[in-house]
Amino acid sequence: MKRSILIAAVLLAGGGLLMAKKTSPAPAPNGIELPADFADWRLVSASMRADNDTMRAVLGNKAAMRAAREGRVNPWPDGAVLAKVVWRRVDMEEWSTASVPGAFVQVEFMIKNSRKYPETGGWGFARWLGNELKPYGQDAGFVKECFSCHQPVKDRDYVFTRPAAMPLAGR
Ligand code: HEC
Repeated sequence: MKRSILIAAVLLAGGGLLMAKKTSPAPAPNGIELPADFADWRLVSASMRADNDTMRAVLGNKAAMRAAREGRVNPWPDGAVLAKVVWRRVDMEEWSTASVPGAFVQVEFMIKNSRKYPETGGWGFARWLGNELKPYGQDAGFVKECFSCHQPVKDRDYVFTRPAAMPLAGR
């Protein structure tokens, strides 16, 4: 009897875990869903911002990496997705002149689909904040903020990041 209760409890807990794993963050106000596998994408480049003391990694999905390595980035092809992951910059505990990522701040995306997003240069913009991955923006109008700040690089398909030099990349 005791044993079957134990088994039932284990099964229930397992089911709970599975369900927790499946709950994905809410979509952005413009309907964009968070690309769930972004943590497995490859590095396009990295940056630091002195004014707000953050470190960033810019990652690309498969289509973006292929385009970056073949130099097809102006314009980027449909299907390319760029993610920018932002952390607080902190001094490394064991070596204070080294900077390392601290708390996770946000992740944001540019999703190239020229038919779907003609009003914002062919890019769908979306951002999620903090570990709880809270969608950014009051309503779908938040993309104006993104798109207007990316205007200085209009001639480079609205993308600031240049793929970083990476010996033997793509081999
Ligand atoms: C205040 C200006 C500003 C705003 C607003 C802004 N960006 Fe950016 N964004 C930048 C700059 C500058 C970079 C490149 C440097 C960096 O941050 O690493 C960048 C880089 C990016 C990148 C990496 C690709 C690239 O262009 O280099 C993505 C993805 C991105 N932004 C998404 C967004 C999204 C989504 C929003 C709106 C929710 C947004 N940005 C709003 C200035 C801005």
